[in-house]
Amino acid sequence: MTVKVPKDRTIDNTLAIFKDGYEFISKRVQNNHLDVYETRVLGEKVALLSGEEGAKLFYDTNRMNRKNALPGRVLKTLFGEDAIQTMDGKAHTHRKLLFMSLMTPEALASLKVITNKHWDQFANKWEGKKKVVLYDETRELLCRTACEWAGVPLKEKEVEKRTRDLSNMIDGFSAVGPKHIESRRARKRTEKWIEDLILDVREGKQQAQKGTAIYEMAMHKDLHGNPLDARMAAIELINVIRPLVAISKFITFGALAFYQFPRTIAKAANEDDYLLRFTQEVRRYYPFVPFLGARVDHDFTWQQYDFKEGQLVMIDIYGTNHDPRLWENPDEFIPDRFLNWNGGLYDLIPQGGGDYYKGHRCPGEQPTIEILKTSFRYMTNHLDYEVPKQDYSYSLRKMPALPKSGFIIKNVHRQ
Ligand code: HEM
Repeated sequence: MTVKVPKDRTIDNTLAIFKDGYEFISKRVQNNHLDVYETRVLGEKVALLSGEEGAKLFYDTNRMNRKNALPGRVLKTLFGEDAIQTMDGKAHTHRKLLFMSLMTPEALASLKVITNKHWDQFANKWEGKKKVVLYDETRELLCRTACEWAGVPLKEKEVEKRTRDLSNMIDGFSAVGPKHIESRRARKRTEKWIEDLILDVREGKQQAQKGTAIYEMAMHKDLHGNPLDARMAAIELINVIRPLVAISKFITFGALAFYQFPRTIAKAANEDDYLLRFTQEVRRYYPFVPFLGARVDHDFTWQQYDFKEGQLVMIDIYGTNHDPRLWENPDEFIPDRFLNWNGGLYDLIPQGGGDYYKGHRCPGEQPTIEILKTSFRYMTNHLDYEVPKQDYSYSLRKMPALPKSGFIIKNVHRQ
């Protein structure tokens, strides 16, 4: 039997990305009970993939590559040019080892201690405040945490500016107009700041401890034994501190989950295993990364669809995390679904799928989980707060998504 892969009749679906947002791919692929679907975006023929089988194909580095897979607007804001996200083959594996070498058990333990210390300091400060916008505050909390963990010196008077720039790089990549322009400026400022620090480390003007991200990026040698260009080292160091700040979005969504599903609070406070299940459900349930792109390495046929060399392919991140074939009642928040989860590499993919070393799966997944567990433990064990009336709704059409109010809490007391 031949099943023809459906193709969009619409000439171009670029605008539909903004209209359908996080559901752009699942509306097309899953609604047709398929893993692949063809459409056109920005004049290009694109294969949309969704679900576990789609993710397996997307992360097959023999069939997909990342050269020219990301639009310039994303590289000039979110990721930086020529960085790990755009690399393939041996050069990518070598660079990935550099990132993975930062994630030792000792480094993760130290990250937990640093995170907890900053929660203590912020909780103290919040006690005297009328109201606290959790997203804004945790961005700064994590900027301080990220810099301390990475060995990046952060002067008190620059904390606000650096926090703003790091989050603008994330929030502005999909924007148009002034917000996007500001996002590009934020990247330029941040690259200059970090590049100067890399040069200082190399010249011995800035102390750096072996094993910290600043030291390892400054001293790293590429496959040919050459040090990274100082700007490149800076871009990769930013690839550590920027996403650490972005974890504030998951913390904000976690606070929303505690509010919407209050029965989770006592269990998260008292049971370590439940705390992990709650954290995984926050990462699965709430929208963060909508989809990712790659290019076809060479012509091949998969599920009766002819993939053509150089063709753009997009994997459905949000939709795979909500795929009814993988998750029972996917649109309900059920941490205990992870009691029976087998740790699949291609089903829970908020930070990408597959093997860390062989492909592009996020090397920061463990630190993200550790920071979230530490934060949720702190919130449930050491904080008392009220949630005033506010608009905490979020839209699946706005990427990246966030509760409108940033999640406000008041009458904060440390326990
Ligand atoms: C890659 C998400 C936190 C560093 C990725 C990818 C996603 C992702 C979706 C792309 C996977 C792909 O291209 O196939 C997230 C989310 C985070 C987070 C949602 C939490 C808010 C972190 C942290 C770090 C980090 C804390 C560093 C400490 C990176 C790097 C890559 C990456 C360097 C590129 C990997 C590669 O191309 O091989 N992340 N990430 N991320 N992430 Fe994360």
